Amino acid sequence: MAGDVRKRLERLRQEIRRHDHLYYVLNAPEIGDQEYDALFAELLRLEAAHPELVTADSPTQRVSGRPLDEFATVRHAVPMLSMDNTYSAEELQAFDERVRKQLDRADYDYVVELKIDGLAISLRYEEGMLVAGATRGDGEVGDDVTANIRTIKSIPLSLLNGDDVPRVLEVRGEVYMPTRSFVELNRMRAEAGEPAFANPRNAAAGSLKLLDARVTATRNLAFFAYAVGEVSQPLAADHYHTLQRFRTLGLPVDPHIRRAKDIDEVIEVCRSWSEKRFELDYQTDGMVVKVNRYDQRDILGTTGRAPRWCIAYKFPAERAETVVESIAVQVGKSGILTPVANLTAVRLSGTTVRRASLHNFDEMRRLDVRPGDTVVIEKAGEIIPQVVEVKKQRRPKGARPFETPKKCPVCDSDVVKDEAGVYVRCPNPDCSGQLKERLRYFAGRGQMDIERLGASLIEQLVDGGLVDGFADLYRLQKEDLAALDRMADKSAQNVLDGIEASKRRPLWRFLAALGIRHVGGQSAQVLADHFGSLEALRNASLEELEAIDQIGPVMAESIHAYFREPRHRAIIAELVAAGVRPQAEAAKPRTGALAGKTVVVTGSLEHFTRQQAEQAIKDAGGKASGSVSKKTDFVLAGAEPGSKLDKARQLGVTVIDERQFMKMLSREA
Ligand code: IVH
Repeated sequence: MAGDVRKRLERLRQEIRRHDHLYYVLNAPEIGDQEYDALFAELLRLEAAHPELVTADSPTQRVSGRPLDEFATVRHAVPMLSMDNTYSAEELQAFDERVRKQLDRADYDYVVELKIDGLAISLRYEEGMLVAGATRGDGEVGDDVTANIRTIKSIPLSLLNGDDVPRVLEVRGEVYMPTRSFVELNRMRAEAGEPAFANPRNAAAGSLKLLDARVTATRNLAFFAYAVGEVSQPLAADHYHTLQRFRTLGLPVDPHIRRAKDIDEVIEVCRSWSEKRFELDYQTDGMVVKVNRYDQRDILGTTGRAPRWCIAYKFPAERAETVVESIAVQVGKSGILTPVANLTAVRLSGTTVRRASLHNFDEMRRLDVRPGDTVVIEKAGEIIPQVVEVKKQRRPKGARPFETPKKCPVCDSDVVKDEAGVYVRCPNPDCSGQLKERLRYFAGRGQMDIERLGASLIEQLVDGGLVDGFADLYRLQKEDLAALDRMADKSAQNVLDGIEASKRRPLWRFLAALGIRHVGGQSAQVLADHFGSLEALRNASLEELEAIDQIGPVMAESIHAYFREPRHRAIIAELVAAGVRPQAEAAKPRTGALAGKTVVVTGSLEHFTRQQAEQAIKDAGGKASGSVSKKTDFVLAGAEPGSKLDKARQLGVTVIDERQFMKMLSREA
């Protein structure tokens, strides 16, 4: 019996891993979402019934339960270097001259890759299992972001072809945020009153450096492997074949890598991407040119900061001139009105731009943008076009400033100014413009994550009178949807399935989805952890809210006011009546052998990786910290401990060895 379960579990895991690989790495799914969800649900159910059979690389273990207090630091065994830049074909030719000279005119070839605009990380696999992930940091020492790395679906938790994998393999590559996810994330953040990320790189870095992996998991990060760090046994004699080996191990490699026989071919490849790159769903700011053979790389060496065998070619930044034909006003989910410039269509960085955000009316006046003006636009992080300059000398005679609206363009209510005087808002809670935006946010990826319920469907549902609030979504029937434009029976069912699945989202997602002013995903997480149930939060006093560490007075006030409002209480009651049951996640254990203790791990242990030791500390109710201070209760020292041991001795902190540690863990709390 137990053997059967074990077998079934292993089969399920293998199946799910295979489908993850097909979907996230090869972009070639074999099954639909429903079938996948069914497999995953079965795995979850079996593991819940047999917790002793859960393995660290099970697909269910991608998201760890608890937030970290801080990141530990990791010293890279092989430093992560940076790269020199070039900006022209001539500079590339000069680079090739240097290579040729140093290689004594031997034959050599290059690999040309896209320079992915994300952040460099190093993944450490031991015996084929992912044991650690670290940021580049200063190249020598980075942050241990393993928990966050484990949420990235295209990163395998264990490598394929287990037998044929080196004992130690450090894979280096770029974590990035796909452009579509970035645009979506920023739109959601703007609506939640959170600052937007300037570009996908900052968004990826910000998401990877969150202390709560559960939030990282909502950020849809992706990964491409492009180099090897420490390795016990080289995968191949050159870079090109190493990348091929990466693929067979299940690691994602950018499909656009190219081998080039000489610098002319390199230049041609670089040129060919200067426009084509805008069709990709990720940002590149240039190309990377690498000498292929490792023995030749060794001859070329490094300059300390950067290797001599590789160089970046950067694309020029792009701007364009166009004319503001008119200025329109959009209504956001909390009623904020935003001016948008309608532009004469113009090509910029690979897309046709017709609109640009003007942010708010103050900003519009500061730039002094008027209908009829010729303006210079640029893409912020090459994505959202912005007006950066107004050509005042070319302003047509009689061009008048655009007046801040006095009425809502959707429902015609009189507008009000907010306290700070920056925003103008529509105060009508029944405004259909606001309703559409609220629904879009509710269904969005960071919130209830209702697949296939996008802007155009919401538009039809609201305009057709089918949906007048969140709870109406849960009352939709197949016939309602099938009657809509371009909606086949199957897609109607998919939408309904997505809505059904959202009924049991974690509490924090539900809280985020309500669209309470100032409450984004992270604060929702804090609230859910603190209160544990919707009921408890709903009845919290203002003092109770203000007493929470990460909740400021403005947010506390906003949350308190939200739940006092009869209209909001009715919305929640209706959702519950419609079957929505937000799930509280398990609270942090406050008991355990190490309850309340802060432990620092240093040196290498025999029975644990660093990550496993820290997890064990947390599972026993303790806190794993990266640095020794007076507050440290124990320092767990393994072989070759670093300066942390000295510090512990200086401060008189108790030092324990691995055997004592294991004894402590085995003790009952
Ligand atoms: S190779 C010695 N390949 O660019 C350099 N880096 O400016 C080893 N990057 O820190 C890195 N795409 O974050 C390499 N295809 C690619 C890359 C790439 C992006 C980043 C990486 C690095 C930075 C240097």
